[in-house]
Amino acid sequence: MQRLKVVAVVGARPNFMKIAPLLWAAGRRPDSFEFRLVHTGQHYDKNMNEVFFQELGIREPDIHLGVGSGSHAEQTARIMVALEKVLVEDPADLVLVVGDVNSTLAAALVASKLHVPTAHVEAGLRSRDRRMPEEINRMVTDCLSEVLFTTSRLADRNLLAEGVPPERICLVGNIMIDTLIHFLDRAEGRDTPERLGLKRGGYALVTLHRPGNVDDAAKLGGIIDTLCRISRELPVVFPVHPRTRGTLAAFGLFERLEREPGVTLAEPQGYLDFLSLMRSSRLVISDSGGIQEETTYLKIPCLTLRENTERPETVEFGTNLLIGHDGDRLYEQARRILDGGWKAGGELEFWDGRVAERILDELERRRDRLTAPPAERLVDTGARL
Ligand code: UD1
Repeated sequence: MQRLKVVAVVGARPNFMKIAPLLWAAGRRPDSFEFRLVHTGQHYDKNMNEVFFQELGIREPDIHLGVGSGSHAEQTARIMVALEKVLVEDPADLVLVVGDVNSTLAAALVASKLHVPTAHVEAGLRSRDRRMPEEINRMVTDCLSEVLFTTSRLADRNLLAEGVPPERICLVGNIMIDTLIHFLDRAEGRDTPERLGLKRGGYALVTLHRPGNVDDAAKLGGIIDTLCRISRELPVVFPVHPRTRGTLAAFGLFERLEREPGVTLAEPQGYLDFLSLMRSSRLVISDSGGIQEETTYLKIPCLTLRENTERPETVEFGTNLLIGHDGDRLYEQARRILDGGWKAGGELEFWDGRVAERILDELERRRDRLTAPPAERLVDTGARL
């Protein structure tokens, strides 16, 4: 049988931990899959990028598009133009995309127009907040994808409610947790907290990068005030995303944080160091998507600085709580955690370290359909949207 030719597309930091287990698993099935890895270059700093490839054992990308930063339209368009050439020169049976970044959307658009089926890993997440660029990316990518690999039953329900035919949906679980499980022992063995002068179990870990939080001076100032307040009771470590470093500096808030004795500012951390920091933290304060899931798996309390989440199972069954943007509420909930009054959190179905294998099993099962001529796959697909 012919191997399934897959082009896997990644671009930004949160993609790398999602693709790694699939590349490892595909490497164990060389007779069934030929994976080509395309890196769009959406993230390009060493510590947002190279360090993840090294630590996660991801091989050098076969193709690097080198698109870099820009407005959403510029970034998305540059990826599309460059990726189209790649797929025309060397056609693929399937384009595989993960997550919800601009690279995900751009790849799904290009593949669809070339009649190449797309598989979306981490499909069906919805915040119902179209102010988030990621929500647009998720909706469009799901709409265009032939196979939708979901993390939970809530995601399945979202897709079904949008009219997606059930046969396109496949509940496999959370692929990021495959990576976390694989590296947890190694991360625990690192001395990252000590190197940053922190006591295990005795600090809060903070990340912030969402434009809605960091691009507005008043909002960011309010968050920083509360973080300083918390740091007088519990040391705070804050690896600063490049976007956030830029706006903190522009708003004169960076020096404020540097002067605060309980706050440790750090560069964006590699995967293992970040996991080590998360594992040993007393609590996490963040506006990230993936960290809500990782803390749920680790059963670490997480305060999410957002009004909504596309990952509601982390609130319903896990250790996550949505704080919105109210500084007093953030402080009160951090206090509550320190006083021992936090929910324990439960296990999530299929967040078990076997997601990549399930995805490849499913792709093998669907091979005939995926490689069928466009006239059989793409005509009379039923009304959607
Ligand atoms: C992107 C994703 C977001 C993800 C986040 C994690 C989209 C729409 N957003 O947001 O879903 O949660 O990554 O990191 O795709 N920059 C650097 N060095 C880098 C990367 C970025 O300096 O390596 C700067 C850029 O120049 C830009 C800013 O950071 O000014 C934002 O980068 P961008 O890729 O637009 O989005 P993120 O905020 O990182």
